Amino acid sequence: MLETTILPDPLYADPEAYDVAFGWDSYAETTALLDVAAALLGRAPDSALDVACGAGRTLRDFARAGLTAYGLDRDARLLRFAKRRLGELGLSAELLAADMRDFTLPQPVDVAANAINGIGYLTGPGDLDRHLAALAANLVDGGLYIVEMSFGPVQAHWLGKGEPWAFERGTLRVMADWRLLSVDEETGLATHEATLIIQRRGEPERRVVCRHEMRKWDQPTFYAHVADSPLRLAQILGRDLQPRDPAQRLTYDDDNVFVFLQK
Ligand SMILES: C[S@@+](CC[C@H](N)C(=O)[O-])C[C@H]1O[C@@H](n2cnc3c(N)ncnc32)[C@H](O)[C@@H]1O
Repeated sequence: MLETTILPDPLYADPEAYDVAFGWDSYAETTALLDVAAALLGRAPDSALDVACGAGRTLRDFARAGLTAYGLDRDARLLRFAKRRLGELGLSAELLAADMRDFTLPQPVDVAANAINGIGYLTGPGDLDRHLAALAANLVDGGLYIVEMSFGPVQAHWLGKGEPWAFERGTLRVMADWRLLSVDEETGLATHEATLIIQRRGEPERRVVCRHEMRKWDQPTFYAHVADSPLRLAQILGRDLQPRDPAQRLTYDDDNVFVFLQK
């Protein structure tokens, strides 16, 4: 039998640099999303899971909001960093090294979230169904799963287009770029190229360039998988956090949206 080995991803080799590049202040956005989840749940949530938490940006928001917070990721380097950073900020959360297709939390949570297209890493046949089933098994009845994602199809003018950004923390400055190189229209599989230019005072500059394969779901196909899962579509908010009509056809031009799925 063929076995797949996942090689350590170079994008996460320097978790602090990743966190500086992707760890912008999302607290206001996260608490606004929690307010919408509370309205759908019918009460304020007590607990939340950050799915594919990476270095822990959303996880820190959950802990800062006073929730019992859990962070799940398959990359142990990122989890170690996330724990250290939480400690530095006087926050706490429980971290789990696990695959988002198959995991069990110590107790079901009120809310789960999957930020910035993390759901796109589910590229294999059946992966999304396994993930939605595992997620639902770890949610309370009425609990919400907030999925931040962009939909396909991808218009040609987006391919190869980069919008580099830079952030600094202390003596570390990171310039980052994330661009979509190609999408297979048949399978929805997309190749992204991520670049980090890492400048630490007193150290030589380092450049990390790596490619990630992710799935770009078109909305009808994604909805069909949700319909086959224990979750149901409850709400969609645009990037501006304004409600969007779930029946309106979204494409890559609509940017990331927040899809609320409810158990
Ligand atoms: C683009 S990062 C997003 C990290 C974080 N949510 C953020 O907003 O910065 C995607 C994360 O997904 C994780 N990941 C990918 N596939 C996974 C899987 N099957 N199970 C758990 N984590 C996974 C990676 O290790 C990585 O930390």
